[in-house]
Amino acid sequence: MLLLPLLLLAVIVPGGDNEDAFQGPTSFHVIQISTFANSTWAQNLGSGWLDDLQIHGWDSDSGTAIFLKPWSKGNFSDEEVAELEELFRVYLIGFIREVQDHVSEFQLEYPFVIQGIAGCELHTGKATRSFLQGALGGLDFVSIKNDSCAPAPEGGSKAQRFCALIIQYQAICDTVAKLLLETCPRYLLSVLDAGKAELQRQVKPEAWLSSGPPSRPGRLRLVCHVSGFYPKPVRVTWMRGEQEQPGAQQGDVMPNADWTWYLRVTLDVAAGEAAGLSCRVKHSSLGDQDIILYWGHSTSIGLILVVIIVVIILLICLALWFWRRWSYQTIL
Ligand SMILES: *[C@@H]1O[C@H](CO)[C@@H](O)[C@H](O)[C@H]1NC(C)=O
Ligand SMILES: *[C@@H]1O[C@H](CO)[C@@H](O)[C@H](O)[C@H]1NC(C)=O
Ligand SMILES: *[C@@H]1O[C@H](CO)[C@@H](O)[C@H](O)[C@H]1NC(C)=O
Repeated sequence: MLLLPLLLLAVIVPGGDNEDAFQGPTSFHVIQISTFANSTWAQNLGSGWLDDLQIHGWDSDSGTAIFLKPWSKGNFSDEEVAELEELFRVYLIGFIREVQDHVSEFQLEYPFVIQGIAGCELHTGKATRSFLQGALGGLDFVSIKNDSCAPAPEGGSKAQRFCALIIQYQAICDTVAKLLLETCPRYLLSVLDAGKAELQRQVKPEAWLSSGPPSRPGRLRLVCHVSGFYPKPVRVTWMRGEQEQPGAQQGDVMPNADWTWYLRVTLDVAAGEAAGLSCRVKHSSLGDQDIILYWGHSTSIGLILVVIIVVIILLICLALWFWRRWSYQTIL
């Protein structure tokens, strides 16, 4: 739920004429997922992300950050990174203890999960906007708006009580404000710069067609697969001539292991109407050279291949036959 706005941010359709526009991520955020199984067992998961690309993990046992890219530290010095790690380590341990101490006061029932997301994003030019949201049991709980704690409607009276409690801890609020408004924007700008070769690269998609299980007899499900592209924005449409076909179903853009993306778009048609349909892929890496795949052409290519193979086999048989005749004659 918390991630939805971020995921929506990523769905932008590139045109052929905006190659100069900034490509790649524009925000940094950390995610905390704290699971409380019972009064004695709790666990923190932490991670750091540029939009939807993960660049940090968190090792809970040692209380240290895992830097997934050589440039994940931006231009922060080792001392500053160590200070931040120490801050997060103390915070995460303290968080579990404080929550466990307030379980009965807030009428929480085991097991429950607390999720937090906090970070900053580029706005216009060099300006940035910071955000922090917390969720309890998958529902929005509180957020920081304009430097103050705002209870979410779904959080009810518990969230109001939480905000009333937290403003009494002035030192914590000051630290959070400094991290969000000063440290995060400085880090974001420097990590976008340090990783720009990888973050702003262009990788062309591969595309292929297949048929999926038909919805009912007499229908065909055409599937257009597009994989291996970066950055994420892509436009995949089923076309008849220049006419975009309505009713195509777009899947989620799924991550590949190598920081590229995968998408499938399906179209359900009557079996007789598949001929002449094509899948068109527009992506910034392709410039104006859209990939266009025609349904049915793959089978005619298959047919040509079969014919070529049969002809080659016949030629080999013929050559063998001649060779045997020729060797018999020389022996005789
Ligand atoms: C608490 O939860 C953990 C993890 O699910 C489990 O291994 C442990 O036995 C539980 N302890 C109690 C006292 O229920
Ligand atoms: C945000 O805070 C500033 C200063 O505290 C105040 O002037 C402004 O009106 C607030 N904006 C909103 C939308 O609450
Ligand atoms: C790190 O990068 C930020 C943003 O680009 C910049 O403001 C800051 O001066 C840099 N710090 C150092 C030590 O280079």
